[in-house]
Amino acid sequence: MARAHGKAILLGEHGVVFGRPALAVALDRGVVARATAVASTSDCTLHIEPWGVTVVPDASSSRDLDRAFAALLDAYREAPRVRVEARTELPGGAGLGSSAALSVAVLRAIDELLGIERMIAEVIACSLAWERVFHGAPSGIDSALAAEGGILVYRKGEAPEVVSAPKPFRICVGDTGERSSTRSMVDAVARLRERNRAKIDLVFDSMAALVRNGRLAIEAGDHAAVGQLLDLNHALLASLMLSTEVVESMCASARGAGAFGAKVTGAGGGGCVIALAPGKEDDVIEAWKAAGRDAWISEVGA
Ligand code: PMV
Repeated sequence: MARAHGKAILLGEHGVVFGRPALAVALDRGVVARATAVASTSDCTLHIEPWGVTVVPDASSSRDLDRAFAALLDAYREAPRVRVEARTELPGGAGLGSSAALSVAVLRAIDELLGIERMIAEVIACSLAWERVFHGAPSGIDSALAAEGGILVYRKGEAPEVVSAPKPFRICVGDTGERSSTRSMVDAVARLRERNRAKIDLVFDSMAALVRNGRLAIEAGDHAAVGQLLDLNHALLASLMLSTEVVESMCASARGAGAFGAKVTGAGGGGCVIALAPGKEDDVIEAWKAAGRDAWISEVGA
């Protein structure tokens, strides 16, 4: 059985598409996959639960998942004769890197069956081929976290830097129930930047400063400081029109329930909100659930 992590970006999403660093954590929820041998390449399928979706590798299909599966299988010298069963524990299109986690778990399941061992950098590169089908220019942060786990500072085109927290900590993850496409959110930010490059680059530079401070705060175990940085990053993301009314109300209720900070995570336009609330996690989850949102606590940095 192969496994890959979901992720939550603590600081720096969108800036990371434009070459700035971002700080992200692997979640204890992810994707598990198992591959079994089939008689012929024409029987090659990927079945994804709980979506009940069956995918075939087809580079000319109109379905993104078929093309992504074909792109992933390009990693093999010969088309593998496999059937892959995957189960995702992550909501799709919600900012938690479910697509990258799926690609990494599927690749690892096939590798496991075929006895192939790859360096992490190669796993990330294969996952990126899948990710490019869904969104033209992924930074690669989702694939890096899916493959490597832990806490990383990631900058496009560079090896991820591992960040060590003095001990594991917990974050609250809440789902707005609103869905967005990463591609369209990234495109929207790119259009904003076209219109006012200097101003938007300043926003990204500010995010980069938050990432530098965030790394130090995590390494020092200073969660009050991390929480403040989450709030500041959220304000910057909101200034890029990436927040929604539901996101705002979930961030406000998390802070009201005692969180040190809260923000939208990932592409935005809905998706998931995270909050850091040491000792008050249950109160935050209760507040979100009372408003009808799905929410859970994830241990990170283990
Ligand atoms: O929403 P997700 O899980 O696809 O995360 C997107 C993160 C972005 O920084 C907005 C895009 C990227 O490629 O890094």
